[in-house]
Formats: sequence, structure tokens, C-alpha cells
Amino acid sequence: KKIVFSAIKPSGEITLGNYLGALKNWIGLQDEYECFYCIADLHAITVRQEPKDLRRRVLEILAIYIAAGLNHEKSTLFVQSHVPAHSEASWLLTCTANMGELSRMTQYKDKTAKLKENTSISAGLFNYPVLMAADILIYNTNLVPVGVDQKQHVELARDIAQRFNSSYSDTFVLPEAKVSESAAKIMDLQDPTKKMSKSDDNENSYILLLDPPAVIRRKISRAVTDSVGVVNYTDEQPGVKNLINIVCAIQGIKPEAVVAQFEGKGYKDFKEFVAEVIIGELEPVQIKVKELLENKEALAAIYREGAQKASRVATRTLRKMQKKIGLLPLE
Ligand code: TYM
Repeated sequence: KKIVFSAIKPSGEITLGNYLGALKNWIGLQDEYECFYCIADLHAITVRQEPKDLRRRVLEILAIYIAAGLNHEKSTLFVQSHVPAHSEASWLLTCTANMGELSRMTQYKDKTAKLKENTSISAGLFNYPVLMAADILIYNTNLVPVGVDQKQHVELARDIAQRFNSSYSDTFVLPEAKVSESAAKIMDLQDPTKKMSKSDDNENSYILLLDPPAVIRRKISRAVTDSVGVVNYTDEQPGVKNLINIVCAIQGIKPEAVVAQFEGKGYKDFKEFVAEVIIGELEPVQIKVKELLENKEALAAIYREGAQKASRVATRTLRKMQKKIGLLPLE
């Protein structure tokens, strides 16, 4: 079986973008592939987190994974920091990566550009893609299902793997990103030229997976559109296009079908429809999440088992790396 690895970082609440761009696409891969789905808590701490919020969110994301349809008997569900091989492999790969390629990562450039002058940038933020490469490579991953914003990082993981393979000897499988079509990039509801992000200051710009129906209706009714007034699927109407993409990603249909359905109708009808489609998708997940969070022991049993399964595979690769590099084995 080919191997799939992906992760979400618990640096904020999960958005509709995370769900449609990543999580929803993971479900269907579970039968065909051997899947590792991780909660990347070490990636979240490149910026400061409130300790108790971080702990709460990790558990909440595990519940969301399961509620959305990930099955811990088919896939390995685990927390990154529970498998120390990630951090160890990350250091070994830090010595294979170079400053130049890391400086060219657009996410790093965007994030640091947004920080005010004189605020310090953690070295973790710079090294972030190396840890991500370690995540992917220690499982001999073939496929990495992600939104388009993470594609460059997966390509870097591939470059680092290739370099390691040629300086030592064949060690890593070369991974590939898998990006879904309609949900590659769900846009900000207030500014549809940028990505929907959990770290945005304006809460009207994103929908959270756990937003109650009334909040979803309000946020969609306030979503920025345009003055054309006709439901078209075109780059000239990025707000409307984004709402169409959301519907397509949820229902698995083509944009033309949505456009045809709203011929001769206005944005008000269209937005009401979009909101109901989102609620129809998220509400059952929300109910399940609530139930799962009532039994923390059952969730703990799942992440403990996941950590064990993940550790076995990850440690094997780590030992291989250490040996090739020339580190003296303890036993
Ligand atoms: P993160 O937590 O920012 O996002 C998790 C996943 O959601 C996707 N995504 C989106 N897709 C479509 N539209 C959006 N608006 C949108 N926003 C986010 C992301 O592309 C991602 O797939 N570094 C990663 C987490 C990570 C990881 C890994 C991923 C750590 N190690 C190894 C893959 C493999 C991150 O910060 O994702």
C-alpha cells in the first residue's frame, strides 16, 4: 500500500478552509492507502500559544478528525509531539536544508512581512518547513493531501529528500502533494483575493468548523460579493466564485451546475442557499464532536495507540538516517 501523510496545526480554531482543502479529502483515502493523520502541535508553537488553549485545541481537533470520518482503526491518528522522532529527524534534516531555500518559502516571507519592525521572528518560524519535511519523510510518504498554500513546502520536502538520498544513499521516498480542485484555496469572505485563514483579525472573514448555524448564516450574508448581481463563475467576481467553490467542494458538483441553478436569481437567494449547504455539512460533524469531547478517556486511548503505531514506523526511518549520517548507535 502507498502511504499518505497529512496534518493540521492547532494554532487556532479549524476553519472551513482547513476542512474543505484538507480534512474532507483525507476521508476517502483511508481504504486505498495506509494513512497517517497528525495534529501538528510543534508547528503551532512557532508563534506563542496560550498553554491551556493549545491543549484544548489538540483534543478538539482529534475529535473533529473522527467526527468528520477519519477512522482510527483504518488510519493512524496521533499528536506530533508524542512521537519524538519528528523533532530528532528535523534536526538531522536541518543540517541538509540550506538557508537560501528556506528564505525563499512564500509562507515565511508573507508571515514575516506582516510582523511589525523590531518584533522578533522565532527561528522556529524559519525552520518550520524542515520539521514539516521530517513529518512527511519519516513515514516514507508517497502522497500529501493539502491545500495549495502548502504545496511549496511539500516540494521542499522532496528537494531535501533528494539531497539526502544523493549525499548518503537511497533513504527516502520522494513525496508528492495532492491538491483538490474546487477546494485548493478557499478565500477570505471579506477579501476574496486572499486565503481564508484562522489567524485573521476579522471574524467575518472566515467560517469555523464549530460555528453555530446562526453564525454561519450571518457570516455568509455579510460575505463580500460585487455589483454585477448575477451568479457567474469568473475571476471578475471572486467573492461569488469562492461561494460557488464552497458549494462544489461540499456537494462534489461542477460550478456550471450551481450557476444554472441560480439563473435569474439574485445574491440574497444564492447566499441563503450557500449557508444552508454549509450548515447541512457541518452540523452533523459538530454534534458528533460534542459527543466525542464528553469522553476524554476514549480520545486519549486513540491518541496513545496512534502514537505507538506512528513511533514504530518513524523510529525505524530515524535509525536509518542516524546510521547513514555516522552517529554512533547506542546499542
Ligand atoms: P494548516 O494548519 O495551516 O492548514 C491545514 C490544511 O488546511 C489547508 N488549508 C486550506 N485549504 C484550502 N483553503 C484554505 N483557505 C486553507 N487554509 C488551510 C492547508 O493547505 C493544509 O493542508 N504546515 C501545515 C501543517 C503540517 C503538515 C505537515 C501538512 C505540518 N506538517 C506535513 C502536511 C504534511 C499547516 O500549517 O497547515
